[in-house]
Amino acid sequence: MKTTLSFSRPSEVETECLAVVIVDQGEKDKPAPTLLTTDEALKNAAAELTASGEVSGKIFETVLIHRPQGIKAKRLLLVGGGKAKNFSGHELRKLAGTAVRFLKPKQVRSFSFLAPELPAGAADAVKAVVQGAFVGNFDPDIYKSDRKDQRITEITIVVPPGADRAPLETAVNESRILGESQNFTRELVNEPSNRLTPTALAERARKMAEEINSPHFKCETYGADKIKELKMGAFWSVAQGSEEPPALIVLRWSPPDAPEKPVLGLVGKGITFDSGGISIKPSDGMEKMKYDMAGGAAMLGAMRAIALLQPKVKVIAVVCATENMPSGRAQKPGDVQIAMSGKSIEIINTDAEGRLVLADALAYTEDRFKPRFMIDLATLTGAIMVALGHHHAGMFSTDDALAEALAAAGEATGDRVWRMPLGKEYDKQINSKFADVKNVGGRDAGAITAAQFLKRFVKDTPWVHLDVAGTAIGSPQTDVNRSWASGWGVRLLDRLVADKYER
Ligand code: BES
Ligand code: ZN
Ligand code: ZN
Repeated sequence: MKTTLSFSRPSEVETECLAVVIVDQGEKDKPAPTLLTTDEALKNAAAELTASGEVSGKIFETVLIHRPQGIKAKRLLLVGGGKAKNFSGHELRKLAGTAVRFLKPKQVRSFSFLAPELPAGAADAVKAVVQGAFVGNFDPDIYKSDRKDQRITEITIVVPPGADRAPLETAVNESRILGESQNFTRELVNEPSNRLTPTALAERARKMAEEINSPHFKCETYGADKIKELKMGAFWSVAQGSEEPPALIVLRWSPPDAPEKPVLGLVGKGITFDSGGISIKPSDGMEKMKYDMAGGAAMLGAMRAIALLQPKVKVIAVVCATENMPSGRAQKPGDVQIAMSGKSIEIINTDAEGRLVLADALAYTEDRFKPRFMIDLATLTGAIMVALGHHHAGMFSTDDALAEALAAAGEATGDRVWRMPLGKEYDKQINSKFADVKNVGGRDAGAITAAQFLKRFVKDTPWVHLDVAGTAIGSPQTDVNRSWASGWGVRLLDRLVADKYER
């Protein structure tokens, strides 16, 4: 989608459709719908409608006016922003997505969106509109044979004629990169496991890095031999049951002007299909488990954004990709595996495989790259979904400052996190009779004992684990996200890096 800025009075914009936010400034039951603009001609064009009581400004409301009087646009689309006092960049992002989704099936291919004034400033308004538009323009229908190519091909963001050009152009550019990177992640997550095998995921990562084509951005991928050579016994224990070879994906962003040591180590769970293994899952809903690589896909999307936005800091991403399958070669409950760190793990349930691959991915990242901080993202437990639903990811951390930085980045981007506890009280649940640790801690505190298990494989690097089993997919699907996969985490990680490092 082409994105352009128009420094114009809204009523002067010649366009197929001009989308304008309408909020409700009324008290309780008396709606007072108000267009977010100071352009009198534009207000007049909608005056009859707003006076009629047929529109209230409630969130996601959409009303289309054809041939509006006194303005140059061919159509005027009013998009409800909800109560005026609650209106922020978060609502604006979703409204831009709503406008895109509304116009797509109407054969409109290009339109303009009037960026309203936000307390946060014009650049933030532009970012919200562009990002929301990209999210709304994404569809999950690539395998439908009657697929209608209904994408918006061009959006023009209308900003005040006197606005400063440079910061707004930067805002457009940055948010386009973020929107595309988030959609890159969503595309991977939506892919079925027969088409996105661990090898194919590694291939996509390589292709993405190749396309960016920067001497400072590298992708290395390794197969089973390397995994065995590195003695990644926990990763291999999951991979051994599958016909599909596993892949270890390493992406490195190392700009020349960054400090020698990488600052951030990102680790992603990349289970391209989680059948549960010998502890097989019930068949009802099992098809969803193609999304069990969403943590890894988010790391690939975040690295794409980082390599294009070029912060002055080294960032490493490691994704352990494999299927979790039952077979004659699959691991079995009771088996004891030796992880890369040397710790022994008693397998109680082969469906608790995410923590196994992450145990080795975290140890490998810490030992090989010695990052200043590590963050892992994983669709790790059903328990986190029970606790937090789809609106917050569970955050577990050994470092308060890093946790606070992520919480702030979460509030800013809408990829929100909710901190959960770690604590040695939970260790008892994962102590094993036969090995150093067991991979399941019982029903109670399931998301916490999973995190507590991971903690045993991190030495002293400040670390955050984000359990994204709930947030990686939108449910129920919203007006903005009809795609299932949400791309959660891409904007969060970009924000974390941007908050701290110049680019
Ligand atoms: N990939 C799943 C997590 C999951 C489960 C996500 C259900 C969404 C819905 C993970 O590998 C898993 O199976 N976890 C088990 C752990 C249990 C065996 C201790 C779970 O959460 O049920
Ligand atoms: Zn599992
Ligand atoms: Zn899993």
